[in-house]
Amino acid sequence: MNYSLQLKELWPSVRAGLLCEQKYGALLNNFCPLDHITQELELLNATDFVSEACKKAQRSQGKAKMSPPRHASISSNIKCYTFPRGDITRFRPARPDILGLLNYYLMDAASLLPVLALNVQPDDFVLDLCAAPGGKTLALLQTGACGHLAANDISICRTKRLRQILYNYIPTEIREVVSVTSYDGRDWEQLGGGTFHKVLVDVPCTTDRHSVMEEDNNIFHKRRTKERQMLPMLQLQLLMAGILATKPGGKVVYSTCSLSPLQNEHVIERAVEIAETQFNISVHVEDLSHFRTLFQDTFSFFSDCRLGELVLPHLTANFGPMYFCKLCRV
Ligand SMILES: C[S@@+](CC[C@H](N)C(=O)[O-])C[C@H]1O[C@@H](n2cnc3c(N)ncnc32)[C@H](O)[C@@H]1O
Repeated sequence: MNYSLQLKELWPSVRAGLLCEQKYGALLNNFCPLDHITQELELLNATDFVSEACKKAQRSQGKAKMSPPRHASISSNIKCYTFPRGDITRFRPARPDILGLLNYYLMDAASLLPVLALNVQPDDFVLDLCAAPGGKTLALLQTGACGHLAANDISICRTKRLRQILYNYIPTEIREVVSVTSYDGRDWEQLGGGTFHKVLVDVPCTTDRHSVMEEDNNIFHKRRTKERQMLPMLQLQLLMAGILATKPGGKVVYSTCSLSPLQNEHVIERAVEIAETQFNISVHVEDLSHFRTLFQDTFSFFSDCRLGELVLPHLTANFGPMYFCKLCRV
């Protein structure tokens, strides 16, 4: 009922998408030899949607001399293959290379958008505040740019999965730039505030796709009502910790896999207000609307988001939901 009011005539198709099998992307592991696997994927008609978007940005810059240079905000080191719109072919499981590292990681391709929006630059100190099980951490490492990556998650059992992913995909010498911790992210300020160039705050949310399909431990179950009602507060506290962990001039990307404005735009608005009034920190929301143009061949975007961008599930491109919004600590 709530989402039909928010999304109006779009809701039936979003709902159908949520009720059908989701689509995956194959994030290539740059730490493996890739010639063979890229050939195999291209023979199957899959394409790297990140490099396609980079080419598109370069073409439109050539034509229109857009300023600022928008393609610069996309890391071309990240490679993720998807099947074309309407093609529901599935990827086979990843295989290990001769050194035992897996050659790709299957994930909702929309989950890469927050990482691309963060735009990690060489030697950046990066914090992934809610990192487990680790899909986005892995993508951050694929940029090859992290000077240091702090991957934190409150759940010890989920950080075990994160460590396992790092072990399966990342060579030992690169793993040395990563520190894995299990703190409550809300306390991060006490551990080291104002030290990171880039912070990803991928918060716990109502995980809408999971919630419509899975009975097990469902966040909409009566016994989890209180926890569900408290989510926006927890999200706000985590985002505030993320802002405080960022250096002046640094960037924060906030993301959820929910369609709910209460967990998305409202959290952003409150955080900007609290940063200003309680901490005297000025934060501004960056425009990411060029993402909509660049990635429209792969994802369906909601065009009425007040702040940030939202990928809507759609039967022909069944990724998301994924909300992401980029903030700059001025
Ligand atoms: C959406 S998931 C993160 C997914 C992850 N970024 C990825 O791409 O694989 C949200 C995570 O937040 C963690 N979490 C919940 N409360 C937290 C807190 N107070 N501090 C840090 N992490 C928290 C949960 O354990 C969960 O793993």
